[in-house]
Amino acid sequence: MPIGPVMALMRSLIAGDRDLLALIPKQAYHSTVAPLGYSRRKIILVNDPAAIRRVMIEEVENFPKSDLMVGSLSPLINDGLFVSAGATWSRQRAMVDPAFTHMRVNRAFDAMVGAVADIEARWDILSDEGKPLSLEREMSHLTADIITRTIFSQKLENSVAFEFFDAWASFQDSVATIDLKSLILGKAWAPMKQPPAAQKAARVIRSHLGQLVDQRMEPEAPKQADIVGDLIAARDPVTGTGFSREEIIDQVGVFFLAGHETTASALTWTFFILSQQPEMVQRLRDEVQNAAGSGEISFAVTKKLATARNVFRESLRLYPPLGFIPRVSLYDTVIQGVPTPRGAMVMISPWIIHRHKEVWEAADRFNPDRFLPDREQAQPPGAYLPFGLGPRICIGAAFAMVEAVLIIARLIRRYEFETLDPQKVRPVSHLATRPATEIVMHVARRKGVHHEW
Ligand code: HEM
Repeated sequence: MPIGPVMALMRSLIAGDRDLLALIPKQAYHSTVAPLGYSRRKIILVNDPAAIRRVMIEEVENFPKSDLMVGSLSPLINDGLFVSAGATWSRQRAMVDPAFTHMRVNRAFDAMVGAVADIEARWDILSDEGKPLSLEREMSHLTADIITRTIFSQKLENSVAFEFFDAWASFQDSVATIDLKSLILGKAWAPMKQPPAAQKAARVIRSHLGQLVDQRMEPEAPKQADIVGDLIAARDPVTGTGFSREEIIDQVGVFFLAGHETTASALTWTFFILSQQPEMVQRLRDEVQNAAGSGEISFAVTKKLATARNVFRESLRLYPPLGFIPRVSLYDTVIQGVPTPRGAMVMISPWIIHRHKEVWEAADRFNPDRFLPDREQAQPPGAYLPFGLGPRICIGAAFAMVEAVLIIARLIRRYEFETLDPQKVRPVSHLATRPATEIVMHVARRKGVHHEW
């Protein structure tokens, strides 16, 4: 039995809010594998941990990334790492992986610390003036700053112009629109027409990134230990060739696309939840106090902050930044009894499986302790995938984890958080899972707390 009629899809399209979460029928949180609605192309919602592992790990070649996603992102990143397939993907992944090893994340730590210090300076002023802030906007600025510092060794303000941000917002907007329309009306592998706004925005973004890359490709440019330096130095393990200029721009675009809004979304939800959980905030403060006192929160200290890590993991369970991971079936097959023709969209939803009533105990409750080592083993493999699974798993997962733990520790140590109108907060899923309207917050410097960092 299909779950949920196509009416929900149509309603959402007509309403124009482009919210994928609004399309999920209630039964989905109880079902395993089922066709979703009656759109022109069959959409199969895969909601069972074993079937998810089949699609993402065991038969990864038979279920490549959805043609819709590839087509809509290509003006910005061409055939870059997030969307590439087969031999192209293997080559790129082998060349990019070294930039994200443990050692490299350690190297990026100073950039993270610099960006957090800047946001603290800004928030101290807001705190003194009693002015509220928009949580998502602040987190988006912070993670964009971290990404630019890590890629280009430059602060955000120094490296990209406002024009770049406008183009970025416009690209995200138009991509979300084509996605939903083609999802309902399109045939598999139909050529995708890019709206002129998306093409123009992609050109603006690429031209800004190109200028930054060019500065570094000059023969006399100083060598710097950052991601673009790693990309310029990377060599194909088989042929020994490097990336071309365009390929470097593709990959840098991928890091902005995949690493910026995702982390911003995750941190937005984490701080919103924490603003409603004073006891958990106290536990976090005690943990930071025990690990660092009032001193520096170093890379080594972040490793000791198990509660902060579990708070972040639990936020990623309830509000996975990528709520939907679409694949396409390359052949006629059957997934747990459901006929799945070639061209069907195979939709894996971290949002749904993370809140699935038969998989998680008290699925809707925020409980970071479910990630304590002895309890974590009770989770069926394949049920928790905020970073994806299998060979295409997120390359930046360790990076994001360290970044988040540092930010949580520093900011909860320094501030009290108060959300205005918390009952109005509602998530929507566009490219990332975001609040439908701004989350407005007051941050106030904690009284009597002095620290050197
Ligand atoms: C909380 C933050 C993040 C979340 C939730 C997240 C989530 C994901 C997910 C779900 C995928 C797999 C998509 C799929 O299978 O279709 C992915 C892939 C990827 N992510 Fe992340 N990501 C995060 C942060 C980052 C960061 C910080 C970077 C880089 C700086 C990054 C770079 C990438 C790249 C390059 C891929 C593609 C990997 C490949 O296909 O081989 N991500 N991410």
